[in-house]
Amino acid sequence: PWNATRAAAIVAGLQSLEGATLPILHALQEAFGYVDAQAVPMIADALNLSRAEVHGCLTFYHDFRREPPAGRHHVKLCRAEACQAMGSDRLHGEILSRMGCDWHGTSADGVTVEPVYCLGLCANAPAALVDDEPLARLSAESLDAALKEARA
Ligand code: FES
Repeated sequence: PWNATRAAAIVAGLQSLEGATLPILHALQEAFGYVDAQAVPMIADALNLSRAEVHGCLTFYHDFRREPPAGRHHVKLCRAEACQAMGSDRLHGEILSRMGCDWHGTSADGVTVEPVYCLGLCANAPAALVDDEPLARLSAESLDAALKEARA
C-alpha cells in the first residue's frame, strides 16, 4: 500500500537527478505498484515544478498506474505499431468488451488489463503478456485459453 513517508524518501533520494520527474515516478510505481495522487504535490514541491506539470507527466505516459492494481491476474496488450499493423486495435476492442472493462480496468473475474508499447514480439504480432508470460499471435480465444491456464 501507499506509504507517504516511504514515498517522500524515494522522492528525496532522486530529486537531484536531472529531469528527475520520470525516474521518481518509475521508482514510486516500482515500490507501490502505482503512483498515488499524493505524489503529485510531493514531486512538484521537491522539483520546484507546478502540480500541473507533474500531473501532465504522470498522465502522459500510459505505463503509470494511478490506482493500486486490483486483479489477481494481469494481461498486458501491446498497442505499438507492429501489433497495430496486425489488427490489434480491433482485437483489443473485442477483448475489452468480453472482459467488460476498459484499459487499466479489472474484469469481474479479477483480470486487470494494461496497455504496453512493444514487447519485442513484433515478428509474431499481435502480442500480449499474461501474468508476464509472453503470448504471440494473440487472438481472443488464445487469450481465454491462457487465462484459464493462469487460473488453474
Ligand atoms: Fe507489439 Fe512489438 S509492436 S510486440
